[in-house]
Amino acid sequence: MTDRSSRMDEELARALVEVESRERRRMAEVLHDDLLQLLAAARLALATTDGQDRASNLLESAIRRGRQICRGMEPTPLVGGLDETLPRVLDAVYESHRVQTRLNLLASPRLSPIVHDILLSCAAELLVNVARHAEGSEARLTVEATNHWVTMRIDDDGPGFDLSRVQPGAHRLGGMGFPALERRIRALSGGLDWWNRQPKGASVMVCLPREA
Ligand SMILES: Nc1ncnc2c1ncn2[C@@H]1O[C@H](COP(=O)(O)OP(=O)(O)OP(=O)(O)O)[C@@H](O)[C@H]1O
Ligand SMILES: [Mg+2]
Repeated sequence: MTDRSSRMDEELARALVEVESRERRRMAEVLHDDLLQLLAAARLALATTDGQDRASNLLESAIRRGRQICRGMEPTPLVGGLDETLPRVLDAVYESHRVQTRLNLLASPRLSPIVHDILLSCAAELLVNVARHAEGSEARLTVEATNHWVTMRIDDDGPGFDLSRVQPGAHRLGGMGFPALERRIRALSGGLDWWNRQPKGASVMVCLPREA
């Protein structure tokens, strides 16, 4: 084998490993973001006295999602601008987790498809966090844009982040959700920030370049 062809083989092998590990990460994220959240919500519903129907619907959704994942399908692409897609995400999160969200769309900027997708998955993940960690609180989701950036902020009126357990600004919050969001946001050179408000409530802000 010539030097040149063995170098090409090496490059190819490295590229394949990279694709494979990216795909594994993506699958882990899909499992975490979709399937496990649905199953966790079903377990929560089962623990309530009148949660049987809700648990059964959630399990149906989990089975459907599991089948899609097994077939290696991408999630159905959501078509339209944020003004069309975000309300659908909010409806879906309401269905699965009963979080009421007030949407304040100060802009509906044109975004590249990947930024659009990531913004929607951030919205879903952060609203599920409101359901889990700020139970009973309404969420407010605000979207703003400049020529180059889009920001999405989610506020709730729950107890806020437990600052005795976490380092402000370090984003080490203990779960898998924040690190997964951060990875996706960082890959697009965006930013994620979170803080507590006075007298109470948690806020999370995601900032992404519109055209990444
Ligand atoms: N809206 C919120 N209000 C208060 N605390 C929150 C809120 N969102 C997140 N947290 C805190 O940050 C931690 C990390 O959140 P993260 O989403 O990474 O993990 P998780 O929700 O606990 O689990 P999962 O891996 O299933 O997402 C949570 O465990 C919780 O303590
Ligand atoms: Mg979470």
